[in-house]
Amino acid sequence: MNSRLLLASLITWLSGCERPGGPHAVQPVAHDSLAWTQSAFNTNCRGCHSQGAEGAALPLMNANYWAVATDAVVIEAIAHGQGRSMPAYLADEGGPFTSAQIVSLVQGMRSLWGAKDGATGGESVAISPRVIAGDAGAGAAVFSQACAGCHGPQGSAGSVIDPLYLRLISNQGLWSATVYGRSELGMPAWNQAMPNRPTGLTAQEVADVVGWISAQRPKQQRVSDAP
Ligand code: HEC
Ligand code: HEC
Repeated sequence: MNSRLLLASLITWLSGCERPGGPHAVQPVAHDSLAWTQSAFNTNCRGCHSQGAEGAALPLMNANYWAVATDAVVIEAIAHGQGRSMPAYLADEGGPFTSAQIVSLVQGMRSLWGAKDGATGGESVAISPRVIAGDAGAGAAVFSQACAGCHGPQGSAGSVIDPLYLRLISNQGLWSATVYGRSELGMPAWNQAMPNRPTGLTAQEVADVVGWISAQRPKQQRVSDAP
Protein backbone atom coordinates (compact mmCIF):
# COMPACT_ATOMS: atom_id res chain seq x y z
CA MET A 1 0.00 0.00 0.00
CA ASN A 2 1.51 3.36 -0.83
CA SER A 3 1.75 5.95 1.90
CA ARG A 4 -1.00 8.20 0.49
CA LEU A 5 -3.46 5.32 0.58
CA LEU A 6 -2.28 4.32 4.03
CA LEU A 7 -2.86 7.83 5.32
CA ALA A 8 -6.28 8.00 3.72
CA SER A 9 -7.23 4.75 5.42
CA LEU A 10 -5.87 5.97 8.74
CA ILE A 11 -7.97 9.10 8.48
CA THR A 12 -11.01 6.97 7.77
CA TRP A 13 -10.20 4.71 10.68
CA LEU A 14 -9.68 7.60 13.07
CA SER A 15 -12.79 9.41 11.86
CA GLY A 16 -14.76 6.31 12.74
CA CYS A 17 -14.02 7.14 16.38
CA GLU A 18 -15.36 10.65 16.05
CA ARG A 19 -18.82 12.06 16.38
CA PRO A 20 -18.86 15.31 14.43
CA GLY A 21 -20.77 17.89 16.42
CA GLY A 22 -20.34 15.90 19.63
CA PRO A 23 -19.36 17.48 22.91
CA HIS A 24 -15.69 17.75 21.97
CA ALA A 25 -16.15 19.05 18.42
CA VAL A 26 -13.11 21.06 17.42
CA GLN A 27 -13.15 24.19 15.27
CA PRO A 28 -11.57 23.50 11.90
CA VAL A 29 -8.18 25.21 11.72
CA ALA A 30 -5.83 25.32 8.72
CA HIS A 31 -3.30 22.70 9.61
CA ASP A 32 -1.44 21.96 6.43
CA SER A 33 1.75 23.96 6.97
CA LEU A 34 4.99 23.18 8.75
CA ALA A 35 4.54 26.42 10.67
CA TRP A 36 1.29 24.99 12.06
CA THR A 37 3.09 21.74 12.99
CA GLN A 38 5.89 23.59 14.74
CA SER A 39 3.50 25.74 16.71
CA ALA A 40 1.19 22.82 17.60
CA PHE A 41 4.24 20.87 18.77
CA ASN A 42 5.60 23.76 20.80
CA THR A 43 2.27 24.32 22.50
CA ASN A 44 1.30 20.72 23.17
CA CYS A 45 4.32 18.46 23.12
CA ARG A 46 7.61 20.24 23.60
CA GLY A 47 7.39 20.36 27.40
CA CYS A 48 7.77 16.57 27.53
CA HIS A 49 9.35 15.62 24.18
CA SER A 50 12.22 18.09 23.85
CA GLN A 51 15.85 17.21 23.36
CA GLY A 52 18.22 16.92 26.32
CA ALA A 53 17.87 16.60 30.06
CA GLU A 54 14.72 18.74 30.20
CA GLY A 55 12.90 16.26 27.95
CA ALA A 56 11.10 13.81 30.23
CA ALA A 57 9.99 11.66 27.29
CA LEU A 58 11.61 10.52 24.06
CA PRO A 59 12.72 13.46 21.89
CA LEU A 60 10.77 13.50 18.64
CA MET A 61 13.24 15.82 16.85
CA ASN A 62 15.30 12.77 16.05
CA ALA A 63 15.79 11.18 12.61
CA ASN A 64 16.48 7.79 14.24
CA TYR A 65 12.96 7.87 15.64
CA TRP A 66 11.34 8.64 12.29
CA ALA A 67 13.42 6.00 10.50
CA VAL A 68 11.82 3.24 12.59
CA ALA A 69 8.42 4.60 13.66
CA THR A 70 5.62 4.24 11.10
CA ASP A 71 2.88 6.85 10.77
CA ALA A 72 0.37 4.30 12.11
CA VAL A 73 2.30 3.84 15.37
CA VAL A 74 2.84 7.56 15.92
CA ILE A 75 -0.76 8.47 15.12
CA GLU A 76 -2.05 5.82 17.49
CA ALA A 77 0.09 7.10 20.39
CA ILE A 78 -0.98 10.71 19.83
CA ALA A 79 -4.66 9.98 19.26
CA HIS A 80 -5.19 7.60 22.17
CA GLY A 81 -2.24 8.32 24.48
CA GLN A 82 0.27 5.78 25.73
CA GLY A 83 0.83 4.34 29.18
CA ARG A 84 -0.03 6.50 32.17
CA SER A 85 1.74 9.71 31.26
CA MET A 86 1.15 10.37 27.56
CA PRO A 87 -2.28 12.04 27.16
CA ALA A 88 -4.77 11.31 24.37
CA TYR A 89 -4.98 14.18 21.86
CA LEU A 90 -8.01 13.10 19.83
CA ALA A 91 -10.99 15.41 20.39
CA ASP A 92 -13.27 12.50 21.13
CA GLU A 93 -11.00 11.46 23.98
CA GLY A 94 -10.86 14.96 25.45
CA GLY A 95 -7.94 16.21 23.39
CA PRO A 96 -7.58 19.34 21.23
CA PHE A 97 -7.15 17.78 17.75
CA THR A 98 -9.35 16.29 15.05
CA SER A 99 -8.10 13.09 13.45
CA ALA A 100 -7.12 15.06 10.32
CA GLN A 101 -5.06 17.44 12.45
CA ILE A 102 -3.26 14.51 14.08
CA VAL A 103 -2.38 13.11 10.66
CA SER A 104 -1.10 16.55 9.59
CA LEU A 105 0.93 16.86 12.77
CA VAL A 106 2.60 13.48 12.16
CA GLN A 107 3.31 14.23 8.49
CA GLY A 108 4.67 17.64 9.47
CA MET A 109 6.94 16.22 12.18
CA ARG A 110 8.24 13.61 9.72
CA SER A 111 9.05 16.38 7.22
CA LEU A 112 10.72 18.55 9.86
CA TRP A 113 12.72 15.90 11.68
CA GLY A 114 12.74 12.68 9.63
CA ALA A 115 15.27 11.60 7.03
CA LYS A 116 15.40 14.01 4.13
CA ASP A 117 15.29 11.13 1.64
CA GLY A 118 11.59 10.73 2.36
CA ALA A 119 11.97 7.32 4.05
CA THR A 120 8.70 6.53 5.79
CA GLY A 121 9.92 4.22 8.54
CA GLY A 122 8.84 0.67 9.18
CA GLU A 123 9.54 -1.73 6.37
CA SER A 124 13.09 -0.69 5.59
CA VAL A 125 14.59 -1.18 9.05
CA ALA A 126 15.55 -4.20 11.06
CA ILE A 127 13.50 -3.54 14.18
CA SER A 128 9.81 -3.16 14.89
CA PRO A 129 8.46 0.18 16.16
CA ARG A 130 5.99 -1.78 18.30
CA VAL A 131 6.96 -3.72 21.41
CA ILE A 132 7.44 -7.44 20.79
CA ALA A 133 7.15 -10.01 23.57
CA GLY A 134 10.51 -11.56 24.50
CA ASP A 135 12.03 -14.15 26.81
CA ALA A 136 12.54 -12.55 30.23
CA GLY A 137 14.97 -15.32 31.28
CA ALA A 138 17.27 -14.60 28.34
CA GLY A 139 16.75 -10.87 28.94
CA ALA A 140 18.22 -11.10 32.47
CA ALA A 141 21.60 -11.98 30.98
CA VAL A 142 21.37 -9.20 28.38
CA PHE A 143 20.57 -6.70 31.12
CA SER A 144 23.45 -7.70 33.37
CA GLN A 145 25.91 -7.63 30.49
CA ALA A 146 24.85 -4.65 28.40
CA CYS A 147 22.78 -2.39 30.66
CA ALA A 148 23.67 -2.91 34.33
CA GLY A 149 26.93 -0.99 34.07
CA CYS A 150 24.85 2.17 33.59
CA HIS A 151 21.49 1.14 35.10
CA GLY A 152 22.45 -1.28 37.89
CA PRO A 153 22.68 -0.45 41.61
CA GLN A 154 26.03 1.29 41.10
CA GLY A 155 25.13 2.76 37.72
CA SER A 156 25.22 6.48 37.00
CA ALA A 157 22.15 6.54 34.73
CA GLY A 158 19.47 5.64 37.24
CA SER A 159 17.68 2.36 37.83
CA VAL A 160 15.19 1.28 35.18
CA ILE A 161 13.75 -1.32 37.55
CA ASP A 162 12.79 1.21 40.19
CA PRO A 163 9.16 0.39 41.17
CA LEU A 164 8.03 4.00 40.80
CA TYR A 165 9.55 4.26 37.33
CA LEU A 166 7.97 0.96 36.28
CA ARG A 167 4.66 2.22 37.54
CA LEU A 168 4.69 5.07 35.05
CA ILE A 169 6.23 3.61 31.90
CA SER A 170 4.42 1.24 29.52
CA ASN A 171 6.10 -1.73 27.87
CA GLN A 172 5.96 0.24 24.62
CA GLY A 173 7.77 3.07 26.37
CA LEU A 174 10.51 0.69 27.59
CA TRP A 175 10.79 -0.69 24.06
CA SER A 176 11.10 2.77 22.50
CA ALA A 177 13.71 3.93 25.04
CA THR A 178 15.81 0.82 24.32
CA VAL A 179 15.41 1.04 20.54
CA TYR A 180 15.96 4.78 20.01
CA GLY A 181 18.23 5.57 22.97
CA ARG A 182 18.87 9.14 24.11
CA SER A 183 22.12 9.93 22.33
CA GLU A 184 22.20 13.45 23.75
CA LEU A 185 22.15 11.99 27.32
CA GLY A 186 24.55 9.09 26.69
CA MET A 187 21.95 6.32 26.29
CA PRO A 188 22.93 4.22 23.24
CA ALA A 189 20.36 3.24 20.60
CA TRP A 190 19.76 -0.53 20.22
CA ASN A 191 22.22 -0.86 17.33
CA GLN A 192 25.03 1.18 18.91
CA ALA A 193 27.95 -0.05 21.01
CA MET A 194 27.32 -0.90 24.67
CA PRO A 195 29.22 -2.97 27.25
CA ASN A 196 29.83 -6.53 25.93
CA ARG A 197 27.87 -5.64 22.75
CA PRO A 198 30.28 -3.74 20.48
CA THR A 199 27.74 -3.71 17.63
CA GLY A 200 24.67 -3.25 19.80
CA LEU A 201 21.84 -5.70 20.44
CA THR A 202 19.92 -8.00 18.11
CA ALA A 203 16.18 -7.37 17.74
CA GLN A 204 15.62 -10.56 19.77
CA GLU A 205 17.82 -9.24 22.58
CA VAL A 206 15.81 -6.00 22.64
CA ALA A 207 12.61 -8.04 23.04
CA ASP A 208 14.19 -10.19 25.75
CA VAL A 209 15.64 -7.35 27.81
CA VAL A 210 12.39 -5.35 27.65
CA GLY A 211 10.57 -8.55 28.70
CA TRP A 212 12.89 -8.88 31.70
CA ILE A 213 12.55 -5.23 32.78
CA SER A 214 8.78 -5.43 32.50
CA ALA A 215 8.76 -8.65 34.55
CA GLN A 216 10.34 -6.66 37.41
CA ARG A 217 7.11 -4.69 37.97
CA PRO A 218 6.05 -5.46 41.54
CA LYS A 219 2.82 -7.49 41.62
CA GLN A 220 0.98 -4.98 43.81
CA GLN A 221 1.53 -2.34 41.12
CA ARG A 222 -0.53 -4.10 38.49
CA VAL A 223 -3.24 -1.84 37.21
CA SER A 224 -6.05 -3.76 38.92
CA ASP A 225 -4.46 -3.12 42.33
CA ALA A 226 -3.47 0.50 41.70
CA PRO A 227 -5.14 3.22 43.75
C1 HEC B 1 26.53 3.99 28.58
C2 HEC B 1 25.50 4.00 29.57
C3 HEC B 1 24.18 3.33 29.22
C4 HEC B 1 23.97 2.05 28.76
C5 HEC B 1 25.00 1.00 28.41
C6 HEC B 1 22.54 1.87 28.73
N1 HEC B 1 21.91 3.00 29.12
FE1 HEC B 1 19.91 3.28 29.29
N2 HEC B 1 20.21 5.24 29.72
C7 HEC B 1 21.43 5.84 29.91
C8 HEC B 1 21.23 7.25 30.18
C9 HEC B 1 22.33 8.26 30.47
C10 HEC B 1 19.83 7.47 30.16
C11 HEC B 1 19.10 8.77 30.36
C12 HEC B 1 18.76 8.90 31.81
C13 HEC B 1 17.93 10.13 32.02
O1 HEC B 1 16.77 10.13 31.60
O2 HEC B 1 18.45 11.07 32.63
C14 HEC B 1 19.22 6.18 29.88
C15 HEC B 1 17.86 5.97 29.79
C16 HEC B 1 17.26 4.71 29.67
C17 HEC B 1 15.85 4.46 29.72
C18 HEC B 1 14.79 5.52 29.79
C19 HEC B 1 14.58 6.07 31.12
C20 HEC B 1 13.52 7.14 30.94
O3 HEC B 1 13.88 8.30 31.07
O4 HEC B 1 12.37 6.79 30.66
C21 HEC B 1 15.67 3.11 29.59
C22 HEC B 1 14.35 2.35 29.61
C23 HEC B 1 16.96 2.52 29.43
N3 HEC B 1 17.91 3.52 29.47
C24 HEC B 1 17.18 1.18 29.24
C25 HEC B 1 18.43 0.65 28.93
C26 HEC B 1 18.63 -0.74 28.57
C27 HEC B 1 17.53 -1.78 28.48
C28 HEC B 1 19.96 -0.88 28.33
C29 HEC B 1 20.70 -2.11 27.90
C30 HEC B 1 20.21 -2.74 26.68
C31 HEC B 1 20.59 0.42 28.52
N4 HEC B 1 19.60 1.32 28.88
C32 HEC B 1 21.92 0.69 28.37
C33 HEC B 1 22.65 5.23 29.83
C34 HEC B 1 22.88 3.93 29.42
C1 HEC C 1 2.88 15.23 29.91
C2 HEC C 1 3.99 14.84 29.06
C3 HEC C 1 3.68 14.56 27.60
C4 HEC C 1 3.09 15.38 26.68
C5 HEC C 1 2.55 16.78 26.91
C6 HEC C 1 3.14 14.66 25.43
N1 HEC C 1 3.72 13.44 25.61
FE1 HEC C 1 4.03 12.06 24.18
N2 HEC C 1 4.69 10.75 25.58
C7 HEC C 1 4.93 11.07 26.89
C8 HEC C 1 5.42 9.90 27.58
C9 HEC C 1 5.84 9.84 29.04
C10 HEC C 1 5.45 8.86 26.63
C11 HEC C 1 5.83 7.40 26.90
C12 HEC C 1 4.67 6.81 27.70
C13 HEC C 1 4.83 5.35 27.98
O1 HEC C 1 5.11 4.58 27.02
O2 HEC C 1 4.65 4.96 29.14
C14 HEC C 1 5.00 9.44 25.38
C15 HEC C 1 4.91 8.75 24.18
C16 HEC C 1 4.71 9.36 22.95
C17 HEC C 1 4.82 8.71 21.68
C18 HEC C 1 5.10 7.26 21.45
C19 HEC C 1 6.59 7.04 21.27
C20 HEC C 1 6.81 5.59 20.96
O3 HEC C 1 6.96 5.25 19.77
O4 HEC C 1 6.83 4.77 21.92
C21 HEC C 1 4.59 9.65 20.71
C22 HEC C 1 4.61 9.46 19.21
C23 HEC C 1 4.31 10.88 21.40
N3 HEC C 1 4.39 10.66 22.75
C24 HEC C 1 4.02 12.07 20.75
C25 HEC C 1 3.55 13.20 21.42
C26 HEC C 1 3.05 14.38 20.75
C27 HEC C 1 3.06 14.60 19.26
C28 HEC C 1 2.63 15.22 21.73
C29 HEC C 1 1.94 16.55 21.56
C30 HEC C 1 0.77 16.56 20.71
C31 HEC C 1 2.90 14.59 23.00
N4 HEC C 1 3.44 13.38 22.77
C32 HEC C 1 2.66 15.17 24.23
C33 HEC C 1 4.72 12.28 27.49
C34 HEC C 1 4.07 13.35 26.91
